[in-house]
Amino acid sequence: MKELNKFPSDFVWGTATASYQVEGAFNDEGRGLSIWDTFSKTKGNILDAQNGDTACNQYYLYKDDVKLMKKLGINSYRFSISWSRIYPEGFGEINKPGIMYYKNLCDELLEAGIEPCVTLYHWDLPQALEDKGGWRNRDTAKHFAEYAETVFRELGSKVKMWITLNEPFCSAMLGHATGEHAPGMKNQSTAYKVLHNLYLAHGLTVKRFREGNYNGQIGISLNLDRPRPSSDSQSDQRAAEIGEIKGSRLYMDPLFGRGYPQWLSQNDPDFSPEIEEGDMQIIAQKLDFIGLNYYTEQAAVLRDDNNWEAQITEIEKTEMNWDIVPEGLTRLLVWISENYGNPEIYITENGAAFKDTLSDDNTRCKDHDRINYLQSHFSACKNALEQSVNLKGYYLWSFIDNFEWAYGYTKRFGVTYVDFNTQERIPKDSFYFYRDYIAENREK
Ligand code: FCB
Repeated sequence: MKELNKFPSDFVWGTATASYQVEGAFNDEGRGLSIWDTFSKTKGNILDAQNGDTACNQYYLYKDDVKLMKKLGINSYRFSISWSRIYPEGFGEINKPGIMYYKNLCDELLEAGIEPCVTLYHWDLPQALEDKGGWRNRDTAKHFAEYAETVFRELGSKVKMWITLNEPFCSAMLGHATGEHAPGMKNQSTAYKVLHNLYLAHGLTVKRFREGNYNGQIGISLNLDRPRPSSDSQSDQRAAEIGEIKGSRLYMDPLFGRGYPQWLSQNDPDFSPEIEEGDMQIIAQKLDFIGLNYYTEQAAVLRDDNNWEAQITEIEKTEMNWDIVPEGLTRLLVWISENYGNPEIYITENGAAFKDTLSDDNTRCKDHDRINYLQSHFSACKNALEQSVNLKGYYLWSFIDNFEWAYGYTKRFGVTYVDFNTQERIPKDSFYFYRDYIAENREK
């Protein structure tokens, strides 16, 4: 297939982070605790018992970080807002310094010619709300919409791109079915209920955004999982179909007014979300774009009639042990376009962890694996554009090494290296590669 020579001149090039992973200052200037503070301080949850108390200290170092971003040449920075910095109790009294922090960050970015892209929820639910039932409680959806509207009001003049939820799959399933993420529960049926309440929160928020005529575009970031069949055999094809339903259609269909896939209520005894009249209409608010987070694609085999599992492959892997499959990104983008009316899509995360080490004099990190990973995924984007996918931008995960959830600081995803003892930032070779790629591959 012929590759596009360049990306369109208005293509958005960015990097992404999330509040708990980079901010630190967990107890400063009125921030309330979140479920990630609690979860990471509970023994056994995080590798090496690490937590995000300090992380990259971006709360205090944001000016230096924005300077680096300017050097990188990106035109957008995706970051998330810590709900408990704005509402320490989840609702009620606003914490003014929290608002000020994000206003200052936005101003700093805008001055550097970088558009802020704000994620409203990247997994850090205020602990005060968890104590009232968290996402298992429908009221949390209402509190979220309230919080979101406060942010629209306060930052609306500075922000043109909004993301309601990041990866609801993770909040629901990893948080409530496998227990790998906060709040650490292990009940599949609860996880589906949580997903419904998260989607309700999303819908209520988009509705308020429209009704309030706020600035900019609004969407959601999904980590769709759509495995390919491991072989041509009927059983592997069936496995891939089940994978598509559970990992992609479950998340896409309700947003496009198609409800939850029927297959789930027919075949999964755990699937019984509490749906009230009107909920599905609220969830299906028209979106301006779909955000796609893509890291890997798996090969499916059947485990039993209703379940698939990933087959271990010979494919080259990242430090997360994830197969490197750039063609999977093209396949997924084309699938979204063809099945959901060619919506605008932003890749809101893509990147890789590798074993990064510094040169002897601590000035350089030759992360050529990451460069190869990025380059092949940029080509996958070009292939998708060739096939008429409405792809508008790309955010690299991540701008900086950070707190990688249950893996603590053991996995480095950044194009900027962080010495977590000194907070020194050292641009990796991939930083310069990304800078040059953006400059050279943009149509004038
Ligand atoms: C995604 C998360 C992000 C980061 C990357 C590696 O699932 O959204 O915060 O941890 O994985």
